[in-house]
Amino acid sequence: MEIKTRGNWSSQIGFVAAAAGSAIGLGNIWRFPYIVGRYGGAAFVLVYLAIIIFIGVPIMNSELLIGRKSERNAVGAFKVLAPGTPWFIVGAMGILAGFIILSYYSVVAGWAVAYIFKSGLYMAAGAEHANIFVGHITSTATPVIWHAIFMLMCIGIVAAGIEKGIEKYSKILMPMLVLILLVLIVRSVTLPGAGKGLAFYLKPDFSKLSAEGILAALGQAFFTLSLGMGCMIVYGSYLRKKEDIPINSYYIAGADTLIAFLAGFAIFPAVFAFGLEPGAGPGLTFITLPAVFAAMGPVGHFFGILFFFLLTIAALTSAISLLEVVSAYFIDEAKWNRKKAVWIMGIIIFLLGVPSSLGQGVWSGVKIIGGRDILDSLDFLANNALLPLGGFLLCIFIGWFWGTTKAIEEANIGAKSIKLGTTYSFLIKYVIPIAIFIVFLSSVGVF
Ligand code: TRP
Repeated sequence: MEIKTRGNWSSQIGFVAAAAGSAIGLGNIWRFPYIVGRYGGAAFVLVYLAIIIFIGVPIMNSELLIGRKSERNAVGAFKVLAPGTPWFIVGAMGILAGFIILSYYSVVAGWAVAYIFKSGLYMAAGAEHANIFVGHITSTATPVIWHAIFMLMCIGIVAAGIEKGIEKYSKILMPMLVLILLVLIVRSVTLPGAGKGLAFYLKPDFSKLSAEGILAALGQAFFTLSLGMGCMIVYGSYLRKKEDIPINSYYIAGADTLIAFLAGFAIFPAVFAFGLEPGAGPGLTFITLPAVFAAMGPVGHFFGILFFFLLTIAALTSAISLLEVVSAYFIDEAKWNRKKAVWIMGIIIFLLGVPSSLGQGVWSGVKIIGGRDILDSLDFLANNALLPLGGFLLCIFIGWFWGTTKAIEEANIGAKSIKLGTTYSFLIKYVIPIAIFIVFLSSVGVF
């Protein structure tokens, strides 16, 4: 009876904190602002919000309920719910996506770790931050070492196991991150010239919206909520029946969206005030925020160190969820012990990440998907293809194979305030799969 030996979340807040910890990470503070900047600002933000509500939340519900029902990892869940069918391939695809995402996620997280220790650079003037940042990521050995250090931290936590590891680290530090973002926002919006940034972020110009932008919004929604690869299936598998899935899906999505939104408020006013480029790409956060800290005077040092420390923790609580998904598969299905699974996977993922890091410097000539460097190509492949495809197939599975009746029944066990019903069913069967299908087709130029 391996079901009995499966760890459970020690409390309600433990689960919400861990799931929110998975969702809130680099996706909110590093990826959201640069994607918004790249795809034109406010109009993109609106599309993104609609996707969170109508696609993200129902899929969050779906992954959690599938996890709780099956009490298995991403692959095992499909084997339990649909024995003898090829549906488990959806889970396998998710695990592949997990490998890819964590490999470069850890590289970017390594940038954040390095920035804790580079506090001196916050005092440099405006555009100089760009040079410092580029100088750091284009060097060969140092970013790889920070990437290794970050992966080791993940391995240490995940190897310790679900309760001792994940919960402990998720509870206290996220509220601190919100506080420091609020401080940053106050400084950022009071900079001379900040208004243009606010307009960029808040005044929609729909002519800037492209099909590729809508696909990017979809990918960002999946990425930021940790959806489309079975991560929330694994987290749901540790969830007790008395716990409320529908309301928690809203809490998690709400907290995640709030933090991304705050990050945008901290970044865009400053981008315009300092004459930086909103479409600058993956370096945006790392270039802009240090300039904001510098503009705070001597206390900027302190806030800078604290901020990058908290960002590292946020990245860590997300990264451990990725490593957990990959490892849970080998623990449950291949019957490896936890330590072995976590160490082997962690090392493979580290190695896989090295080219992404080198791709910023010595290998910057290597372009894969549409002129993108290695990191950006892997990110594109995972977020704009694998995750939405995973979400699409999950909807087909629940809507047309396993049945929304069973899904609704499972989700509503323990549901107190909101219950899933016909709206959920309609979204899962029709709206979401059709929407994802159309976005895919239009972004490859079919219409
Ligand atoms: N959501 C996390 C972030 O925003 C990243 C993440 C963790 C993730 N687990 C995931 C993304 C699973 C996709 C799938 O930083």
